[in-house]
Amino acid sequence: MSAVVSLRPTGPKHFLDLKDFTGAELRALLDAAAAFKRGSPKKPLAGKSLAMIFEKPSTRTRVSFEIAAKELGGNTVALSARDMQIGRGETIADTANVLSRFVQGILLRTDSAAKLHELARHASVPVINGLTELSHPCQIMADIFTFEEHKGPVAGQRIAWVGDGNNVAASFIEAAARFNFSLRLACPVGYMPRPEVLDWAKEEGADVEVGIDPDWAVENAACVVTDTWLSMSDSEDQAAARASAFAPYQVTAALMAKAAKGAIFQHCLPAHRGEEVAGEVIDGPASVVFDEAENRLHAQKAILAWAME
Ligand code: CP
Ligand code: NVA
Repeated sequence: MSAVVSLRPTGPKHFLDLKDFTGAELRALLDAAAAFKRGSPKKPLAGKSLAMIFEKPSTRTRVSFEIAAKELGGNTVALSARDMQIGRGETIADTANVLSRFVQGILLRTDSAAKLHELARHASVPVINGLTELSHPCQIMADIFTFEEHKGPVAGQRIAWVGDGNNVAASFIEAAARFNFSLRLACPVGYMPRPEVLDWAKEEGADVEVGIDPDWAVENAACVVTDTWLSMSDSEDQAAARASAFAPYQVTAALMAKAAKGAIFQHCLPAHRGEEVAGEVIDGPASVVFDEAENRLHAQKAILAWAME
């Protein structure tokens, strides 16, 4: 019997999307994250450097990767695309080739997944997805890690996503397939996850259902998740239309009360109290958002060690 060892092509160990990994590979990353959180002294990045390119703002991703790389013995260089020659038309291919001569890993946050994939095609060192308009896999590794700290093994449990079927939702869908949990998403019409992502989940046999009713989504859910109504890749011009479409999707205390007893609340942050979530929920006892933020650090260490050691 031939087991699937990896779904990724050969070459540098890119971390681009959860769907590129088997469940076993992702589980090994969570185990490594737990070891780092327990204080593993390993320094797999000793003598190595990570370049971090941010085309969009970031607090958690930037700080967690920078501290993670340094605590693993490595160096980092944080670059704003604005200050790079990329901003003046240097090609992604040339940038990938040049950076590959200086550093042993490249993180990119961009609003163009196509750019991320082009960088990965041309880099001879691992490329890590620090968020695109389509996905945010590093975040979801921290989210599953956090879920399991609070609620035990995620397999067979239900997570509810309430709000925009955005980049973070897409990575949750991929996670549902790989970690075997039930995912119900309630999104307004017009803001559903992309059909490609839902078709992929169906092909994988994932337990992913999409509807428009938040009450339905949170039924028996051990965790309720939401995200901002306006993502960094969305135009500010959409703010008013989105605010009205998403108003019935606010995660309120009343909605949390309809989830399973003891359900937790997650949000990747940054959050907007009074919009996607009520202050009493995100600042209340069910909220694990700061554990989730801290766990970015431990999850990022696992990803860096896997990709770069
Ligand atoms: N959750 C997250 O990725 O946060 P930042 O945008 O601050 O990196
Ligand atoms: N969906 C949000 C996530 C931020 C971490 C965005 O893309 O802006």
